[in-house]
Amino acid sequence: MLNIALPKGRLGEKVYAMFERAGYDCPAIRENNRKLIFENPEKQVRYFWVKPSDVAIYVQRGCADIGVAGKDILLEYEPDVYELLDLGVGKCRMAVAAPVGFYDSGEKTLRVATKFTSITSAYYARVGRDIDIIKLNGSIELAPILGLSDVIVDIVETGTTLKENNLEVIEEILPISARLIANKAGYKFKGEEIENIAMNMKEQIERNDQNL
Ligand code: PRP
Repeated sequence: MLNIALPKGRLGEKVYAMFERAGYDCPAIRENNRKLIFENPEKQVRYFWVKPSDVAIYVQRGCADIGVAGKDILLEYEPDVYELLDLGVGKCRMAVAAPVGFYDSGEKTLRVATKFTSITSAYYARVGRDIDIIKLNGSIELAPILGLSDVIVDIVETGTTLKENNLEVIEEILPISARLIANKAGYKFKGEEIENIAMNMKEQIERNDQNL
């Protein structure tokens, strides 16, 4: 049985369709209910819906052989897993954002609110700027509005959340997309099967690129 951790939500549905096209269908998963585990014994596959930021934990600890996680999570937590393929979906960017018109004179320690403390520290160390990191768990955009921080480091997809809160991107840190990851031990035993899936998905991505 191949165990696959899918990120709950729209991205997960897109990615499941890729697994389906690779021959690992599990029709019950398309029924709209609150179940978290789905199996297709005939195809020897079991899917779990996992919170996107938890996929890498399930894969690292071997509860899932493979899964799909954002590059942001892989960079932030550096889980001990194999990163097999950029799936080219779930594209967004990690960026520094601030209230429209914000100017950093560089004189004071910059207060930065973020969920991604490790990516943020590494980025500001690279640019040589002193910062005070404020770790938050969500709705990061509120921090500069309420004066908790000067700027934020967060994921920007459409830019709508920033716009609606009168914030703007001031620096891009890195592009993000979803990656196919594998458990290291699982890869030893099921390597061929996992490689076949990765190869099939790579072909799907290339076909898609050609159609654009
Ligand atoms: C993410 C991110 C931004 C938003 C960006 O939040 O933290 O708030 O999406 O998307 P946009 O550019 O398309 O508006 P998420 O929905 O994951 O919730 P969070 O507040 O818990 O971080």
